[in-house]
Amino acid sequence: AEDRIRNLSQMLMQSQEYERQMISYELHDRIAQNLSWLKMSLGTFFKGHSDISSELIEKMKKFSNLTEQTIIAVRDLSYDLRPPGLDEMGLVTEIEIYCEEFSEKTGLEIDFQSAGMHTLKLADDTKIHLYRLIQEGLNNIRKHADAGQVTIKLVGVSPNIILRIEDDGKGFDVKARELALDNEKRMGLRSMRERVNLLQGQMTIQSRQMKGTKIFIKLPYLEQDNESKEKHINY
Ligand SMILES: Nc1ncnc2c1ncn2[C@@H]1O[C@H](COP(=O)(O)OP(=O)(O)OP(=O)(O)O)[C@@H](O)[C@H]1O
Ligand SMILES: [Mg+2]
Repeated sequence: AEDRIRNLSQMLMQSQEYERQMISYELHDRIAQNLSWLKMSLGTFFKGHSDISSELIEKMKKFSNLTEQTIIAVRDLSYDLRPPGLDEMGLVTEIEIYCEEFSEKTGLEIDFQSAGMHTLKLADDTKIHLYRLIQEGLNNIRKHADAGQVTIKLVGVSPNIILRIEDDGKGFDVKARELALDNEKRMGLRSMRERVNLLQGQMTIQSRQMKGTKIFIKLPYLEQDNESKEKHINY
């Protein structure tokens, strides 16, 4: 029964990711493109007309600015929904970029360190789960922790992958909070646990008032694809 629930849960998360990807592409390919075109058109709207009042020009500038801000918002959203580089650049680079941008936007100091990951061949699912774990961890810190400094460590030490997310914020009562979550519409920590469960790992959270929060995640590194299995057979 446990296996069946795990399968179901996995399927649900996969279809959620697929949906996100579709929305992300739509936002990026259609909506952002149209907005870019709109912005360009606004920029040249008065071209060839010499008798435009400065009032109208000012108004048009405002429209143009608003369009620009909307483009940025749509791009950010599209990116958050599905980081494009996860497939092309690899997980570690993608997390580096995410941390850098997160830091710029929020003023949080983020120290991301990684080791032993490049040689691992991770399944796509695992990559997305790890990425989402870090995303939620950071967003929780931004929303709740009142922290200045974050340290993230992602390390591959055979046969495990270790992920630590630590902040120097105000901390929280983990047990009490997790119990209370059952009656709240909060999904973050629960989905983190769910992801770790799906990867057959463990997650522990240590938090002390005014001493910050430490999230410790340990996953078994499961050799993913048939290629590596075949290799073992061929040897
Ligand atoms: N790093 C942290 N520092 C302090 N408190 C935290 C931290 N992470 C989580 N919490 C506390 O745990 C609670 C549950 O977190 P969770 O991510 O499940 O919900 P949320 O962030 O409030 O909502 P959601 O993630 O659904 O948008 C938070 O409301 C907050 O009180
Ligand atoms: Mg959250």
